[in-house]
Amino acid sequence: MSREFNDATKQELERICSRYPKREAALLPALRLLEREFGCVDEEGMVHVARLLGVSPAKVFGVFTFYTHYKRPEDRKYVIEHCSTVPCALRGSEAVHDHLKKTIQPDDPITLKKVECLASCDTAPCLQVNGDFVDYVTPEMGDRMVASMRAGTWKAPTPIYKLPATKYPPVLLKHVLEPGSETLEHYQRRGGYETWLKVYDGKRNPDEIIEEVFKSGLRGRGGAGFPTGQKWKFLAKNDKPRYLVINADESEPGTFKDKMLIDKDPHALIEGILISGYAIKAKCSYIYIRGEFVTGAQILQKAVDEAEAAGLLKGFPITVHRGAGAYICGEETGLLSSLEGNRGYPKIKPPFPAVEGLFRSPTIVNNVETIMSVVHILKNGVEWFRKMGTEKSPGMKIFSVCGHVERPGNYEIPLSVPLKEVIYDLAGGIRGGKNLKAVIPGGLSAPILTAAEVLADPPLRMDFDALAAAKTMLGSGGIIVIDDETCIVDTLWNTLRFYHHESCGQCTPCREGTGWIEKMAAKMEQGRGRDDEIMKIDEVAWSMVGRTICVLADAAALPARSMVTKFKAEFEAHCAAGKCPYKHGSVDLTPAKVLIHG
Ligand SMILES: Cc1cc2nc3c(=O)[nH]c(=O)nc-3n(C[C@H](O)[C@H](O)[C@H](O)COP(=O)(O)O)c2cc1C
Ligand code: SF4
Ligand code: FES
Repeated sequence: MSREFNDATKQELERICSRYPKREAALLPALRLLEREFGCVDEEGMVHVARLLGVSPAKVFGVFTFYTHYKRPEDRKYVIEHCSTVPCALRGSEAVHDHLKKTIQPDDPITLKKVECLASCDTAPCLQVNGDFVDYVTPEMGDRMVASMRAGTWKAPTPIYKLPATKYPPVLLKHVLEPGSETLEHYQRRGGYETWLKVYDGKRNPDEIIEEVFKSGLRGRGGAGFPTGQKWKFLAKNDKPRYLVINADESEPGTFKDKMLIDKDPHALIEGILISGYAIKAKCSYIYIRGEFVTGAQILQKAVDEAEAAGLLKGFPITVHRGAGAYICGEETGLLSSLEGNRGYPKIKPPFPAVEGLFRSPTIVNNVETIMSVVHILKNGVEWFRKMGTEKSPGMKIFSVCGHVERPGNYEIPLSVPLKEVIYDLAGGIRGGKNLKAVIPGGLSAPILTAAEVLADPPLRMDFDALAAAKTMLGSGGIIVIDDETCIVDTLWNTLRFYHHESCGQCTPCREGTGWIEKMAAKMEQGRGRDDEIMKIDEVAWSMVGRTICVLADAAALPARSMVTKFKAEFEAHCAAGKCPYKHGSVDLTPAKVLIHG
């Protein structure tokens, strides 16, 4: 079949190209057009796109092969992407996957793929079918799903959004369960865009807004916790255009807060973008949203269109740009490479994006939650914000809690609430009356904590400094809770498999180190490990730290070091017994109990 876009699609591509200063930045969206028009991305289609964008076919092919999320020619009608990362594994994803593998027959119209965290860890085990989420999957559901696909009657279930109740009144999550919360009408009914219009109509001084955000002490909610106002002040002062880029990649395993904010309150994000873009004098904004958030991207686009039609953007262009399945595109320089139409390769810093970022211009990259917090700081004032949390970690923060708790979900609470309160009071404690073994407190990249560290007195508090003092990190706020029937060797294997898969491969310590540790952990878990290899894991991990272009290597190495040193006895037991002493495959698959927020 000829892979030539029709005129309407060519015009659509031209409209997309006009959103970027360079045509090739439209490469990822152009591949999506191929997918939509021809059902997949194939060689002939890539040659066509190369010609339309004025780049070489080799360039298109090189970029395409970096990303996992495009539909390939060999993919069948239904592509099941089944999450296998730690939070889903803790909830039995392996057993579901094995069941699906046995059930699906060679002539079924189904392709089954194992993928990494889909940012829906509260509904684990979960999967996607052609981009639609399917939550709390059990083997029986798998049977029904396969049968309906065979009959050609498969329909994606309607997504259910739940929010566990807490004693802390939410701010960003306040309206997410109200029907129609994603519409402009609903947003404006609750005072939405008033703060932006006050800023714009009142011709507020942009530097004053930056100063206000600086004084609030707001720290980035995407992972590094860098002070937002400080970052904005770092913007290079030159004659190049400035860009505001929103990091909606949400790829850190254990984190699923931005998904809820985007799906249920997109206008609040747009208002944050308008105010922040005004403050930093940006030319325009790009929202880089992970490819798997198919519905999220549609919701955002609809909200942007609604706001534009209502004259609320005031001429400030906002472009929704979908990624295509690569964890490293959450790292800000990897994200910018991807947004420019390249492989998502991180770049050496300095220069930092605020000096030289997107298209070599001064660029601010901020997380969704960070930008949404800006609206409330301007609306309610610096003092209001600083009343919550601590001096150095002020404000509210959304913690995504998953794994072996009774009530997984998003919890928006003041920073510095004790971790044990989050686990035992808010999230209902350890599921099935079991005991706590460990907690990964800030997304999978955070070093693990033992139960003793979590339950200690004085309690370990969830703020940036307290967690750094405990030699771990608050990161993205993804709290992964692990019970005492879980094997840490297996958890290490899964963790390093993730990082090995997601390493972009530019740096030898990262590319080789992640694979090496993955292999050593696998060997131990399978009962083939030797005592002398236990500390080898620590040695290899140590040799990866601080020696690479970006910190993905550290994000893999530091959790590995913490697991192998804090749980050394478990590694020794595997070597001594020549097998894993834990009972695998016996996980409870009943859906998590979640209370609806009143
Ligand atoms: C490997 C890696 C993955 C990351 N993934 C994300 C992500 O999915 N979302 C995000 O907001 N930040 C992510 N970050 C952090 C970003 O690099 C960057 O610090 C952040 O977007 C800045 O926004 P903030 O200051 O508002 O937090 C990641 C960092 C690394 C090293
Ligand atoms: S540390 Fe790993 S992910 Fe980061 S640039 Fe190097 S190889 Fe790529
Ligand atoms: S959605 Fe499966 S681990 Fe996050």
